[in-house]
Amino acid sequence: MAASRGEFGSRLGFIMAAAGSAVGLGNIWNFPTTMAGNGGAAFVLVYLALAFLLAYPVLMAELTLGRHAHGNMITALAKVSSNGTQRGIGMLIGVTGIFTASLILSFYAIIAGWMMGFGLAFPLEAIGSQGAADWLRTDGLMRNLGLMFGFVILTMLVVAGGVEAGIERWSKRLMPMLILTLLALVAYVATLDGAGAGFREYLVPDVSELMSANILTDAMGAAFFSLSLGVGTMLVYGSYVADNEHLPSLGVQVALVDVGIAVLAGFLILPAMYVAAAQGVEIFGAQGELISGPTLIFDVLVQLFAGMEATGMVLATAFFGLMSIAALTSSISMLEVPVSFLVERFQWSRMQASLVASMIITVMSAVIIMNFGALFGLVVTASTEIAQPLLGLGLCIYAGWVWNRNSLLSELAKNEPSEQFTLFMRIWPVYAQTVCPLIIVVIVGQTLF
Ligand code: TRP
Repeated sequence: MAASRGEFGSRLGFIMAAAGSAVGLGNIWNFPTTMAGNGGAAFVLVYLALAFLLAYPVLMAELTLGRHAHGNMITALAKVSSNGTQRGIGMLIGVTGIFTASLILSFYAIIAGWMMGFGLAFPLEAIGSQGAADWLRTDGLMRNLGLMFGFVILTMLVVAGGVEAGIERWSKRLMPMLILTLLALVAYVATLDGAGAGFREYLVPDVSELMSANILTDAMGAAFFSLSLGVGTMLVYGSYVADNEHLPSLGVQVALVDVGIAVLAGFLILPAMYVAAAQGVEIFGAQGELISGPTLIFDVLVQLFAGMEATGMVLATAFFGLMSIAALTSSISMLEVPVSFLVERFQWSRMQASLVASMIITVMSAVIIMNFGALFGLVVTASTEIAQPLLGLGLCIYAGWVWNRNSLLSELAKNEPSEQFTLFMRIWPVYAQTVCPLIIVVIVGQTLF
């Protein structure tokens, strides 16, 4: 089997793919708006703390387990187990991870489809296809189903292409485009009237919000979602990393890119909202809070762009194109979870596995679309605020308690045996074993009760 497994061709390829997975709608759409609803800068502080003190250690657990097993989450948790009970529970956790990854993709594809639709609508309008443009921008069952399906097909095509020729190649092309577009948009919006108020909201903490009950739950959910944790995405990507790479520093680079882009996206979204407000668009809800929620970007930004004529058309296309790219490099990493399982467990071809997995996800997604009001919020909360952190807890326990310590350390130091004695190696295993589970239990407990 080993010979037929994919591997990332280069260190940069891995970083682009893993950062591509991490950077997505979570960073550019969820993070800035969650932050806006949680006291701006205060939330950013909590988020940064949780990203490095909790999410990074969990990311390391995934990468290490994955590279050690050279396999999916089920294989990895079984491999480090030393008895039947541990193996059984590990398999259960692995199956839950695969299911959760599929569930996340099934709601992600809906929003990503909208992004794609808006990205196409503006150029279509410019060339005179008003009807098509309006259809793409107006809520409707057929539009939602069609765009979702289109996005799932794109995801499937990249994943079917394989690790190096599909995932790595496309991430290496798309990630630099994403960063450049984002920088250009931030710079442009900063020059518009009203942007200053947005910067202020973003940078000056409202300290009273630090004490609010939701801030921890929201920040932890955002950090786990943003770093693609718990469901085996990073574990599978870790399994494609060559043995001569230094995992802890790869992990740091991925976390830095992810957090950096989330913070950068805040410099776009908040100022853009205040620019829109300066042009008469409503951005505050009934209680004077900034409005948020799944349609925020579409409502506010579309009105903003609409007031800017030709420039607006270019900006809107760039922005929604950017969102579609960010979503695609993330969705491929979600689909890779069930696909790698099907390939490794049943020896299916990647094409067959991608096809079957994406058809199942299409059906799940269609069910959500047809019951949007009842299901969408529920699925998002259950998968990101409960399942992801709990799965992360399971991963910490398997990496920290179940896995034999010597074997764990030698996996981490595979590229350089003397590494075993660095600071990271001394602190991380104990930390991931004790502090991380504790933080997760406290925050999830607070969410549930
Ligand atoms: N991290 C991505 C984002 O911020 C989403 C994502 C990709 C994800 N793979 C995942 C979320 C796995 C949870 C689990 O948009």
